[in-house]
Amino acid sequence: MSPGVTRSIAILGGTGPAGTGLALRWVRAGESIIIGSRDAQRAQQVAATIKQKAHAQASVSGMENGAACAASNLLVLTVPFEGQATLLKQLKPAISEGSILVDATVPLAACVGGRASRTLGVWQGSAAQQAAEMVPKGVSVVAAFHNLSAELLSGDAPVDCDVVVCSDDPASAQIVRELARKIPGVRAVDGGKLENSRIVEQMTALLIGLNIRHKGHAGVRITGLPSEAYR
Ligand SMILES: NC(=O)c1ccc[n+]([C@@H]2O[C@H](COP(=O)([O-])OP(=O)(O)OC[C@H]3O[C@@H](n4cnc5c(N)ncnc54)[C@H](OP(=O)(O)O)[C@@H]3O)[C@@H](O)[C@H]2O)c1
Repeated sequence: MSPGVTRSIAILGGTGPAGTGLALRWVRAGESIIIGSRDAQRAQQVAATIKQKAHAQASVSGMENGAACAASNLLVLTVPFEGQATLLKQLKPAISEGSILVDATVPLAACVGGRASRTLGVWQGSAAQQAAEMVPKGVSVVAAFHNLSAELLSGDAPVDCDVVVCSDDPASAQIVRELARKIPGVRAVDGGKLENSRIVEQMTALLIGLNIRHKGHAGVRITGLPSEAYR
């Protein structure tokens, strides 16, 4: 970790299935988690539920999203695409320079009434690239966790899926790959530049379509690479 990065992880929009699932796995791995929400009370209730599910000593608290940003500089954004830009605009003053923003947003067509098995075109190329345009200067955006099923994360079994991590900042990407590897069953793959997040986001729509068709919980595995690719 770079010297300025604290080890508490704030999950913005952490009250939904994606944020809750990641929080559960990370508190079980010993990380300290802040659940962020538009409503502090909801955040605290969800934090209490996660603590109950994880273990009594689990370090998890709940705060309004802005307070969560002020309390951490390792931020994970798990909100629907339709709320991403507005929320980032609101939170901009609370995000400190040197922070890492991990974006897991998938621009599903469902957010405009379309199918969850299709994605929307995003002017910037991807939801993560949109986020990169909206954060304050000096904040690194890392795209990750798009292909992990929240349903599997909320369980106890290892998650049979790789996490492709994309960023224009290699040091921040390394921190996020370490975080991904804390989830049992997950291998983290260096996915290169942030622009590759467009492809990773779209893979989620494919996985959702496969889940609907075959009634399962599909994940992805990237095979055939040397072991360094998974570090
Ligand atoms: N679910 C999955 O399996 C999965 C897997 C990988 C990636 N993702 C991606 O991760 C993101 C979150 O997924 P999810 O299933 O957890 O979504 P969700 O339940 O629809 O939303 C998560 C949280 O975001 C907040 N939120 C909702 N609408 C908002 C808005 N307009 N503005 C600001 N905050 C808003 C809500 O928290 P408060 O009301 O408490 O503020 C909500 O609990 C999505 O972009 C999704 O595509 C999901």
